[in-house]
Amino acid sequence: MDSILVTGNGPLSGQIPIAGAKNACLTLMPATLLSEDPLTLTNAPRLSDIKTMTQLLQSLGAEVSSLQDGQVLAMSSHDLTSHTADYDIVRKMRASNLVLGPMLARLGQAVVSLPGGCAIGARPMDLHVEGLEALGAEIELKDGYLHAKALGGLKGAVHEMRFASVGATENIVMAATLAKGTTVLKNAAREPEIVDLVNCLRKMGAQIAGEGTSTIEIQGVDRLHGATHQVVSDRIELGTYMLVPAICGGEVELLGGRKSLVESFASKLEEAGVSITETAKGLKVSRKNGPVTSVDVITEPFPGFPTDLQAQMMALMCTAQGVSVLEERIFENRFMHAPELVRMGAQIEVHGGTAKVTGVDQLKGAPVMATDLRASVSLILAGLAAEGETTVSRVYHLDRGYEHVVGKLEGVGAKIERIKSQ
Ligand code: UD1
Repeated sequence: MDSILVTGNGPLSGQIPIAGAKNACLTLMPATLLSEDPLTLTNAPRLSDIKTMTQLLQSLGAEVSSLQDGQVLAMSSHDLTSHTADYDIVRKMRASNLVLGPMLARLGQAVVSLPGGCAIGARPMDLHVEGLEALGAEIELKDGYLHAKALGGLKGAVHEMRFASVGATENIVMAATLAKGTTVLKNAAREPEIVDLVNCLRKMGAQIAGEGTSTIEIQGVDRLHGATHQVVSDRIELGTYMLVPAICGGEVELLGGRKSLVESFASKLEEAGVSITETAKGLKVSRKNGPVTSVDVITEPFPGFPTDLQAQMMALMCTAQGVSVLEERIFENRFMHAPELVRMGAQIEVHGGTAKVTGVDQLKGAPVMATDLRASVSLILAGLAAEGETTVSRVYHLDRGYEHVVGKLEGVGAKIERIKSQ
């Protein structure tokens, strides 16, 4: 298995281009299943998760062509041949469950394996199931698969989610676009990826209002048509690279970044002493005077502090002046990076969903292991700030969500290389 070797070498400066959002692309791709006409996505990120979704859609009979070095995905679901999302593909990635709503809406049936993905908690599907049942689907769990049916078609309904799940909101909104009548989804998730999905669905002819708020109203239509849509910038990749100058010093411009995508995260960084300015091309982030100051963080659904930036923020807090408390409220098992950071000299105490981080003057390079996607990049950030060499193994987690991470960091002067396994 490949590993990444990072050698801390002081302040980093330059520009990093931000790719299209993995999590937006992973919900936009299944939207192709809703229509017989082609759907084309531009600004797609080049990631292994996108390849997994491509395989899944192809296994259902969709055509998916990757053009322009993977940045354009041309899809057609004219002739679907299957309504079963097989365990062998779904186990690799939880977002595979996003084919459930579209297949049910278009074909009246869907069989979807319960998902796998990062080992960051139980991650059940109950909220998806409850929402689709409210639209008239009959769903049962048999042999590890959800068997969903709505042979007479889905019907619009008023439904309030018990928790604002991102994936459940996406599945329910997609399903409701082809339901008879109006659906009102209350306590919906408000993430920018959902706004991006709705913008694309609207281009396909869907009638939707309220995205970005906690109530989304969908007026069902008979059919959706083709469209071309540009994937929104990846706010998690943006936040991750904003931490590069924060943790190493220097000044980095994130091309394509917007503050509105990372408002709560950016204000925490500013509170810690990092300077952030909007430029014509994106966001410029710099830290020039001494270490950052500790800040406390609580992860919450958007617009709160994103759970997907918690591990990276913890890496920064390991080098901050003072004591920081990070509380994880979205996933129950998301501090697996903490013991790895401790191997690098960090002082972290974890109690349940809370981590207390006491900043140290200097992290030290060490061999560490990536345990999930965001944990892996937090170890790279720590390695950039550490004295000596850090080897991060199990980098397949990183390949799921960060394109060209070595090239992007080399571009700002980092000493980083990928070591191919023999
Ligand atoms: C999405 C993101 C992921 C991010 C997460 C939270 C994608 C592909 N992934 O994941 O990167 O970390 O949002 O911002 O977009 N839950 C239930 N029942 C359900 C569904 C979820 O209990 O039916 C729980 C989960 O176990 C978790 C919490 O709700 O504790 C949040 O999950 P959810 O918002 O659904 O996240 P995902 O859509 O899986």
